[in-house]
Amino acid sequence: MKVRTTDVVVIGAGAAGMMCAATAGARGREVVLIDHAEKLAEKIRISGGGRCNFTNLHVRPECYLSRNPHYCKSALARYTQHDFLKMMERYGLGWHEKTLGQLFCDQGSGAIIDMLKAEVDAGGATWRMNTPVTAVGRLGEGFEVVTPEETWHCASLVIASGGLSIPQIGATAFGYELARQFGLEIVATTPALVPLTFQPQDLWDELAGVAVEDAIVSTGKTHFREAILLTHRGVSGPAILQISSYWQPGQPIVIDLLPERGLADALAGASRDALLVNVLGDIVPKRLAQAIVATLGENRPLKQYTPKALQQLEDRLKRWQVVPSGTVGYKKAEVTCGGVDTAGLDSRSMMARQVPGLFFIGEVVDVTGWLGGYNFQWAWSSGFVAGSAA
Ligand code: FDA
Repeated sequence: MKVRTTDVVVIGAGAAGMMCAATAGARGREVVLIDHAEKLAEKIRISGGGRCNFTNLHVRPECYLSRNPHYCKSALARYTQHDFLKMMERYGLGWHEKTLGQLFCDQGSGAIIDMLKAEVDAGGATWRMNTPVTAVGRLGEGFEVVTPEETWHCASLVIASGGLSIPQIGATAFGYELARQFGLEIVATTPALVPLTFQPQDLWDELAGVAVEDAIVSTGKTHFREAILLTHRGVSGPAILQISSYWQPGQPIVIDLLPERGLADALAGASRDALLVNVLGDIVPKRLAQAIVATLGENRPLKQYTPKALQQLEDRLKRWQVVPSGTVGYKKAEVTCGGVDTAGLDSRSMMARQVPGLFFIGEVVDVTGWLGGYNFQWAWSSGFVAGSAA
């Protein structure tokens, strides 16, 4: 077994790990980047449907969930979405905004990976892909990182091994286990940005595939206004993925299919002689209209409905309340909520307060962004901050 020495070992060569290795390398630190996966940064590759929604123009701390909502502030301020755009400009990469400030790479997610890899290489880091870490221990004031072929001794150890989502492409609980080994707390993890499942009786099977372009979905005081998509098992679409991060098991979610208007407004121009199903079919997708009318048990001309019946219909459209039975889990979740408790970390460096030299960055930390580029921005920002200190 060869024993080698380096300044910094980064475990996890994903979004945060590469940003950290590049930043530390640029400072002249000798860096080794270890990842057990064969392919580099698969999560970046598959992100944004292959176009990588790499950041958001409206990044702000309120768009992140954490037991300590202030923790992310310093890092997000020190390395912003505009800093990442400057790096892309240096590499000649273009970008476009799709919606709600979400920025996608014109050249696709592969170009983002290539750029980060080039930045890591420019800093002179050593790559160890396809390399599992079998043990980590404290060695004096530094660390010992054991892999099957080499043992690395380092002054700084950065954990960037990500969350639990999509185990099929290499997600593991490594970071949480290591945090526990060094006495850090873990905030309970749950799948987030994930489709919700319903009990069969709460949905109509024939509605699978129906999309509602504009809906407000809420749980408690939190709401999101975006599209929803009905599926065989439940509901998905951006508004549902967003609310899933806030949803607590047993709690209802409420779906408003007529944002910012009442039924009377929506029916204002409709013929009073038209059948309800046709009138409703102009307001919501036709298959949804048919299902709703079927639950009323009758389909008569609009003029035959009493104000009370129309009120009930409005309730159904604006306050469709369901209690999800669960989520589809880590296999489909975009991110993991919870993780290494920020109470044990320094927000200015990402270093463990009680274990000098040990850093946690990216998704493994209890900081979870909204859908729309916020999670990559956290990876870039936290990676930069740790790379500046490690
Ligand atoms: P990341 O998961 O990127 O990297 C962790 C690395 O650690 C991996 O390379 C893994 O192989 C390695 N690793 C794990 N265990 C290890 C071990 N035991 N030993 C060695 N290495 C280990 N976000 C966003 O902002 N915009 C988007 O468009 C999308 N789209 C998207 C689509 C899909 C399908 C998913 C699943 C996720 C997204 N995300 C996203 C979320 C985003 O991908 C995620 O938040 C970041 O990749 C997190 O970056 P990290 O570097 O923390 O982890």
